[in-house]
Amino acid sequence: MKAFETFAPGERELAAALDPGRMPAHIAIIMDGNGRWAKRRGLPRFAGHRAGANRVRSIVEDCSNLGVKALTLYAFSAENWKRPRLEIDLLWRLLRIYLRSDLADLQRNNIRLTSIGRVEALPPLAYRELRATEKATERNTGMRLNLAINYSARNEIADAVNAIIDEARIAGRLARLTIDEAAIGRHLYTSGLPEPDLLVRTSGEMRVSNFLLWQIAYAELYVTETYWPDFDRSELLKAILEFQRRERRFGGLSEAPAVEAVNEDLPEDEANLEAEENEEIAVSSQ
Ligand code: FPP
Repeated sequence: MKAFETFAPGERELAAALDPGRMPAHIAIIMDGNGRWAKRRGLPRFAGHRAGANRVRSIVEDCSNLGVKALTLYAFSAENWKRPRLEIDLLWRLLRIYLRSDLADLQRNNIRLTSIGRVEALPPLAYRELRATEKATERNTGMRLNLAINYSARNEIADAVNAIIDEARIAGRLARLTIDEAAIGRHLYTSGLPEPDLLVRTSGEMRVSNFLLWQIAYAELYVTETYWPDFDRSELLKAILEFQRRERRFGGLSEAPAVEAVNEDLPEDEANLEAEENEEIAVSSQ
């Protein structure tokens, strides 16, 4: 974890409260609310997206300084093609501007940029810029900045299953193929990345919107009313602090119960179960 060079009021205290040993390795963010941010200011949606792109810059740098290993940002969903043509064109332009103007910063911070989603469908200029940035940063060993673009989690799972079937067909073992969780995990677009520990959604909607459905099985969810362009460093620190306050059990127990206590409880529980079962039999035979 690197020290921040400057602090806005209140940030120093929030940063000091962090436990550096319990940072989320992978943060995923649904960046929502650009349009509402602009509307609230009487500005066109364009201005909201531009402010959103600027926020991407600052959050990427902050996450990298905090020692986060991977940051996945939902930049464009496969459903976003339903938006007006002009707005979509603007989003591609913003993406190109971001990729070009921030390459030097990505290199300086040793950040590797990758993408997930069906990016071949992007307009050629945006696609080329994306691939060029991925290539230019592929040897960087610091944080992984993973942009979800033309992304749909359901497409991703279907693509993974089809890839497994294709491989089995080529290897001549299709007839014996069984697909398990590990095989799906290895064939997802995010293969090689840790699963997100923390999923943040800005602007208050309580939905996951077809984002990383497989990978967020055990992620902690954090929804804030703050619009994405306002999601500044102190908002990020608050989200991480909330994550650190949560107890993650992955379906287990927080503490193993004392063995004696479990054994002591058994006879009574068993007796109750037996009584319930007898009652059920009696009812069903009436
Ligand atoms: C949601 O806000 C945001 C998006 C669909 C696009 C996210 C894009 C950016 C943050 C800018 C460009 C990205 C990069 C990586 C440089 P919305 O328009 O749905 O907001 P609303 O729900 O308030 O209308």
